[in-house]
Amino acid sequence: MSIPQAIARRAALPELATGQTTAFRLLDGAGDGWPGVEIDTYDRHWVVQTREVPFPEVLRRTLPEGCLSVWWKRLDQQDKQAPQCVLGQPPAGPFTVQELGLNYEIDLTAGYSQGLFLDQRPQRARMMERIVPGQRVLNLFAYTCAFSVAAASRGAITTSVDLSRPYLEWGKRNFALNDLAPDAHFFCRGDSFEWLRRFAKKGRTWDGIVVDPPSFSRNADGKVFRVEHDFPELVALCLAVLAPGGWLLSSTNHRGLTPARFRGLVEAGASLSQRPVTQLQPGNMPPDFTDEPYLKTLWLASLPGSSR
Ligand SMILES: C[S@@+](CC[C@H](N)C(=O)[O-])C[C@H]1O[C@@H](n2cnc3c(N)ncnc32)[C@H](O)[C@@H]1O
Repeated sequence: MSIPQAIARRAALPELATGQTTAFRLLDGAGDGWPGVEIDTYDRHWVVQTREVPFPEVLRRTLPEGCLSVWWKRLDQQDKQAPQCVLGQPPAGPFTVQELGLNYEIDLTAGYSQGLFLDQRPQRARMMERIVPGQRVLNLFAYTCAFSVAAASRGAITTSVDLSRPYLEWGKRNFALNDLAPDAHFFCRGDSFEWLRRFAKKGRTWDGIVVDPPSFSRNADGKVFRVEHDFPELVALCLAVLAPGGWLLSSTNHRGLTPARFRGLVEAGASLSQRPVTQLQPGNMPPDFTDEPYLKTLWLASLPGSSR
């Protein structure tokens, strides 16, 4: 499939035709006949990601129609570098994109990630549908707080936890970009595990929790987190602070885990916590992501009236 054909395929998707989402995947590897090549558009600035294949020469020569700049990000290198601009006029600095009608700040020069994980759009949409104004939502490993902003836009009071202060500041800017007052929400810098234990001790609970950690991380004390080893404990700690009748969205993009193995880890966490849970429903990937469905997502609900 040619790049214009892949773009036409996205243009035909009803959820992208509304114009409410300006950041999405334009071309997705083998799913569009280009193994090892992905192109994401951030409001007409294209990030071309390659994994063990050369940069497509066709994108070095002339700016494709409707594209302002082309960037190259390599997914196959150990030192995770920010994308490099290879063609066109780079934006003057951070700029705003829309997802589901909400605004998010993107910075193509900030580092390996651009500020918004485009593969979680269906989960943000589904979460927004289930939120009742006034509900309390906890977003762990919050990064730039996209899930928090989406929840707050529907009237939730959010708490965002992340190791990185700069990312939480970026998150506050995302709130402001949507006319949501950051002061009406909570931002906790530090390790998600430690905060969860602290919240449990204080008897705090949430009506909804999002837990979407990186596959691997190390906290300030050098303590290592690995999804395949630590997810059950993380789920159990989440369930300890989930209000009866509340929901938990658990997710990983770890390509080495099968959906069945991921489900096993989540179920192990539920039995560790001894909280009765129902509805282990899988989430889905956006229709513009046509390659391998690497993202694993499960929605859990705690039984109304259940407590430890
Ligand atoms: C892959 S991103 C998470 C994506 C996020 N859930 C989203 O949908 O936008 C990883 C984030 O986890 C944070 N992080 C890594 N280890 C952490 C930990 N132990 N506690 C809290 N945050 C952590 C990083 O700082 C980074 O912002």
